[in-house]
Amino acid sequence: MRIVDIIKKKRDGEELTHEEFDYVAGEYIKGNIPDYQIAAFLMAVYYKGMTNQEIVYLTKLMAKSGDKIDLSNIKGFKVDKHSTGGVGDKTSLVVAPLAAACGVKVAKISGRGLGHTGGTVDKLESIPGYKTQLPIDTFEDIVNDVGVSIIGQSANVVPVDKKLYAIRDVTATVDSLPLIATSIMSKKLAAADDGIVLEVTIGSGSFNKTFDAGEKLARIMVDIGNAAGKKTVAVLTDMNQPLGRTIGNSLEVVEAIELLKTGKGDSRLLELVLALTSAMLSLAGMGDINSCKELAIKKLKTGEAYKKFCDMVSRHEGDVSFLRDTSKFYLGVTKEVLAPKEGYIAKIDTEGYGLASLYLGAGRNTMEDKIDFSAGIEVVKTVGEYVHKGDVIAILHSTNKDLFAQSEQKVLESIQIGDILIEPNPVVLGYVQ
Ligand code: URA
Repeated sequence: MRIVDIIKKKRDGEELTHEEFDYVAGEYIKGNIPDYQIAAFLMAVYYKGMTNQEIVYLTKLMAKSGDKIDLSNIKGFKVDKHSTGGVGDKTSLVVAPLAAACGVKVAKISGRGLGHTGGTVDKLESIPGYKTQLPIDTFEDIVNDVGVSIIGQSANVVPVDKKLYAIRDVTATVDSLPLIATSIMSKKLAAADDGIVLEVTIGSGSFNKTFDAGEKLARIMVDIGNAAGKKTVAVLTDMNQPLGRTIGNSLEVVEAIELLKTGKGDSRLLELVLALTSAMLSLAGMGDINSCKELAIKKLKTGEAYKKFCDMVSRHEGDVSFLRDTSKFYLGVTKEVLAPKEGYIAKIDTEGYGLASLYLGAGRNTMEDKIDFSAGIEVVKTVGEYVHKGDVIAILHSTNKDLFAQSEQKVLESIQIGDILIEPNPVVLGYVQ
């Protein structure tokens, strides 16, 4: 078999066999296929797609490409949550400790930023000292003792995805349904969770631009999860505006901490956090969605979820004093972006805001790039809000003020101000189970 023939076959739109995917995954991991040929293969998949059968083949091959995360030492119902990627999406930081405070076990393996979207691992690393790479037995111990642990994907867990993820990020091959489905579900199949809640984002800030695309992606991922014996549900969510009021690593961590501490925050973010948490609890058989939601509200209000977060951070060697006093996070220098005219914010091109945040240093342009944790955007005005000319619509943060001009221009290009009040979409668009 030759990789060039497989690339050609995919380029010409033919269906690949199990043996061919086995060859690609196996030889790539052994280092026998160079990155430039994998990049060409990914681009062929991007344009020609994959059949459902191909998606299942590749997902299973990727899942067994490295160590399995056994989790059998963890007592209780183990439930994971994973997002297809969003802008300002810090739900995992709140949902994971909240679900744990309600009584399920959350052993979560998260990713880094991808394309214009942020990653939970990068966000957690903005807490000084927080270790995202831990031995699996330490991870299991933390889940058993605290109820929750969030780590990054180690080199040995689904190594094919780890390598592909980094290449996709820098070759414009992220927003491909089969590549997202195989990437997410291979990681879910490699870990022995009992249940999985998928947050499938839809809209201008998501890789799924239309409802149909999001629903199709959700369907295939839910079917793969259920077929593997894991109770799986997808929550379809609106990403036609940034989620919450911040984009960027430290900024999002601060927003998540404040929500955990006070139970108060942006209403769409709070609603989504409660929807995702109650889906996790309900999968664990803790009652119907409404009673699970009530329990989650209670645990948020009593501060038990915040305590879980502090305990998790402390066991990961993170500096908990930053959680107690969030003013300790360095948030860079700032620049206000002003409304160019009066009216209602009618539309936000959310991907544009994600890119504007990357321009400030919040993400990577190449695999080697270092992130500026302080970089990002405070979303002061969002869809449906009224602004006067000169009102602050966003605040840019960065350690490098030379990056402001390009980012400001992107924010202004991404926002539409009109005369008519446009009601934002609901944040939860539906469920696929
Ligand atoms: N999250 C993942 O883990 N992989 C993707 O491809 C997209 C989001």
